[in-house]
Amino acid sequence: MKRILSGMQPTSQLHLGNYLGALKNWVDFQGEPNTECLYCVVDLHAITADYEPANLANATREIAAAYIAAGIDPDKSSIFVQSHVPEHSQLMWLLATMAQMGKLERMTQFKDKAGKNAERAGLGLFAYPVLMAADILIYKATHVPVGEDQKQHLELARDLAATFNTRYGVDFFPQPEPVIAGPAPRVMSLRDGSSKMSKSADSDMTRINLTDSADLIATTIKKAKNDADPLPATLEELKGRPEALNLITLYAALSGREKQDVLSEFEGKQFGAFKPALADVAIAHLEPITSRMNELMQDPAQVDAVLARGAEKARSIASPILGDVHKIMGFYK
Ligand code: TYM
Repeated sequence: MKRILSGMQPTSQLHLGNYLGALKNWVDFQGEPNTECLYCVVDLHAITADYEPANLANATREIAAAYIAAGIDPDKSSIFVQSHVPEHSQLMWLLATMAQMGKLERMTQFKDKAGKNAERAGLGLFAYPVLMAADILIYKATHVPVGEDQKQHLELARDLAATFNTRYGVDFFPQPEPVIAGPAPRVMSLRDGSSKMSKSADSDMTRINLTDSADLIATTIKKAKNDADPLPATLEELKGRPEALNLITLYAALSGREKQDVLSEFEGKQFGAFKPALADVAIAHLEPITSRMNELMQDPAQVDAVLARGAEKARSIASPILGDVHKIMGFYK
């Protein structure tokens, strides 16, 4: 029996990196036999950075709408909000007693987000990966589909599972497997091929959001950074051309083709010819998702009902597992 768990933060609009690196792969697990899928919106993680309380609930609903619009079927998967399942935070505390400060200090995302002022960073930001481990372990999840940037966090979750098992002499938590799959596990910024596409980058021109209009998608792609050479015939020749590689990767991922196949079609062409074709595949792929998302956001009650059902199902799994953890750790009943 496989149990799949993953989540996204409701920090702002989802972009093509979130979609191609994670969400699109989540959909594929749904059809697999003996597989249970749990997909949450991790609102407790979102508050580890500055956020606007008045927007949090709607942003949470919007991410759930994006999951459904992208093909997560509420009849096949449980879609829920992290904070609606208090067992996540409860397990987090228990795991926090076993998480080593030194390992948390080495987390690159913490270092990036805390910046030069690590002394002033909140405890929540520091403990972010422990909560993420709890999200996974509270369901004894076996597989975690994520983008490449989450690899280190997943290693910590595996480490905590093993530490718990060793400390208490049990074989209780399975080792969750990271699933970093698909043609685009690391989508890069459209303005700088050496940094990843991210929600927090200042300029909207660095990314394509799932809610962007067709016109905006076309403009963003037109303005995307590229080098001056024409497209080569082979992937080998894309080495040292990160912007070109990123655009070819996006085309391949959005059209369901191999990168080499795309290169064979556009070999010798300039970006002036390639970019409109990329814009066309991006718009054709994203348009149905965007319009479904808009429809769902017109009917918030429908999304809320999905989330209520999902939370109930998630709690029915998490609650007995937390009970077992309490027993193993020797708490008074
Ligand atoms: P978040 O919301 O930052 O990202 C959500 C997912 O999108 C992937 N991703 C990318 N993939 C490819 N290219 C990119 N440029 C790109 N940017 C983001 C991320 O890898 C992620 O899979 N910490 C998690 C949220 C989380 C979680 C969990 C995930 C909390 N608890 C438990 C799995 C299991 C995060 O980064 O979210």
